[in-house]
Amino acid sequence: MVDPIRVVIAGYGRLGGELARGLIQSPQVELAGVARRSAGQSSSTMDVGGQRVPVSAHLPALLDRTTPHVLLEASLPDVAVANVKAAIERGVAPVIATSGIDDAAIDEIRAACAARGIGGVVAPNLSLGAVLLIHLASIAGKFFDSADVIEMHRDKKLDAPSGTALHTARVMAQARGRPFTHAATERFTLDNVRGGVVDGVGVHSIRLPGLVAHQQVIFGGLGQTLTLRHDTSSNESYVPGALAAIRQAATSTDFVVGLAALLGLE
Ligand SMILES: NC(=O)c1ccc[n+]([C@@H]2O[C@H](COP(=O)([O-])OP(=O)(O)OC[C@H]3O[C@@H](n4cnc5c(N)ncnc54)[C@H](OP(=O)(O)O)[C@@H]3O)[C@@H](O)[C@H]2O)c1
Repeated sequence: MVDPIRVVIAGYGRLGGELARGLIQSPQVELAGVARRSAGQSSSTMDVGGQRVPVSAHLPALLDRTTPHVLLEASLPDVAVANVKAAIERGVAPVIATSGIDDAAIDEIRAACAARGIGGVVAPNLSLGAVLLIHLASIAGKFFDSADVIEMHRDKKLDAPSGTALHTARVMAQARGRPFTHAATERFTLDNVRGGVVDGVGVHSIRLPGLVAHQQVIFGGLGQTLTLRHDTSSNESYVPGALAAIRQAATSTDFVVGLAALLGLE
């Protein structure tokens, strides 16, 4: 393994900033640079966790100047694919944390990595606990016929339900090979109170200030319930998953989609 792994991060927002400050603590990683829209085109540096790190708005020039092993893409879906292509052209293995990149673009990136002889990772969910919750729920779902997912996020989250909640319900149904049983309600005294239904799983979204990212899966069976729950207390939760993905991309020519596959859970 190259030691340390030199990493450039594209994006320094809520995700990229947290990852940059987390990675700089790891002796396995050297943060070689940061690309963000608001930086100038010319060479300059910024403070990341007490270290001066090269920063630029122009990722290709930054990659040429800093020659990293890995690009950690954590910006926005509309610029992510171009950023990743710029990395692959230079033989830099991509780790794509940005979510919302479509399957056709992922296939194109996979083919470009194979043609260049480098590995890559696509991980739209870097939270170890969330990925483990989905895995455990897919096991438990084989033993229970009824289940609800309750996801809770900060009030500012734009969409509902979360992509993770939808994915959880679908993976649970897929693992047991049939939909869950969703009990019907005969008379509603309040609209939408049972949430949405995905493959027979009730899905409920709570938005409140003070929350970060939380999810429960409640299974119901004869005379018993089983609750699985994951709570995130800060965005630092993404750092261990990012480190695992960076190690994978730097040391293998495989192209891995999803943290679950990376952890050997599927
Ligand atoms: N994998 C996961 O577990 C996970 C977790 C959370 C979020 N996400 C995803 O990660 C992505 C980023 O989320 P976020 O909340 O961090 O967004 P955000 O706070 O809006 O940050 C976006 C960042 O992208 C930068 N940027 C925009 N255009 C750019 C360009 N052309 N070149 C380089 N950088 C550019 C912005 O630069 P400025 O700072 O200069 O504005 C900003 O730093 C989203 O797709 C989100 O869904 C994934």
